[in-house]
Amino acid sequence: MKTSIPKSDPEKLTRLSKATADRTPFSALTAYDYPVARLMDEAGIDLILVGDSLGMMVLGHEDTTGVTVEMMVYHTAACRRGVLRAPLVADLPSRSYDSPDTAVANARLLVAAGADAVKIEGGSQMAPQIEALSAAGIATVGHIGMLPQHVREEGGYRKKGKTDADAERLLDDARQLERSGAVAIVLESMVARVATQITHEVGIPTIGIGAGGGCDGQILVVHDLLGSFPWFRPSFATPRADFAAETTRAVREFIATQASNANAHP
Ligand code: KIV
Repeated sequence: MKTSIPKSDPEKLTRLSKATADRTPFSALTAYDYPVARLMDEAGIDLILVGDSLGMMVLGHEDTTGVTVEMMVYHTAACRRGVLRAPLVADLPSRSYDSPDTAVANARLLVAAGADAVKIEGGSQMAPQIEALSAAGIATVGHIGMLPQHVREEGGYRKKGKTDADAERLLDDARQLERSGAVAIVLESMVARVATQITHEVGIPTIGIGAGGGCDGQILVVHDLLGSFPWFRPSFATPRADFAAETTRAVREFIATQASNANAHP
């Protein structure tokens, strides 16, 4: 185990921005705990997000809306202990950034837990929050397109940017987030052509998820990469392992071993 835990460093995301100047694609993953965060940091991942997707992936909630700041602080601190190298971004959860003041107060808690940057969902209407966070020295990642924290109002997970008006709104949102001081933008579940256009128009890195291959970087929920959440798999994610099957196999093998030991030693 390591003895010293690295401090939060808002400049880490700036170093990632340089990757866009020469258009080097980068890879990002979510993490929620120490071992997975440490393994992915040591494997060379470019960015780690403590996503509020932990509501579903770790806690068994239906969506992200029940995740609290306390939960995010707890999981951010766990990941921080394992991450020495990659920028560590933490989500501000639903309703924790309704005003610029609450955004700054709650973001400070995530930074104190070790986040190098925070992420908030929403377009142009989030400009005051991002400006306040930047003024407080807190690096902020924007998030537009499908907004999981608003899934209930929106009535489901739907792809964005299908009409010209929606595509134009997404472009305006991306430009506004950059002007307000966002250091990167997640583009979630949007028409690939729109995500590519945003990527060409803004000077900060775009990080796509279900938005085609034209973004500067791609992010996946780690369970979708590892095949460890078999009850739901998004169509855009290619699992590179089958942890669910491996877990079932190992558990059954352990049960069978105990049973045969009991038979051998009555
Ligand atoms: O919480 C999360 O996992 C996210 C990703 C979908 C980008 O915000």
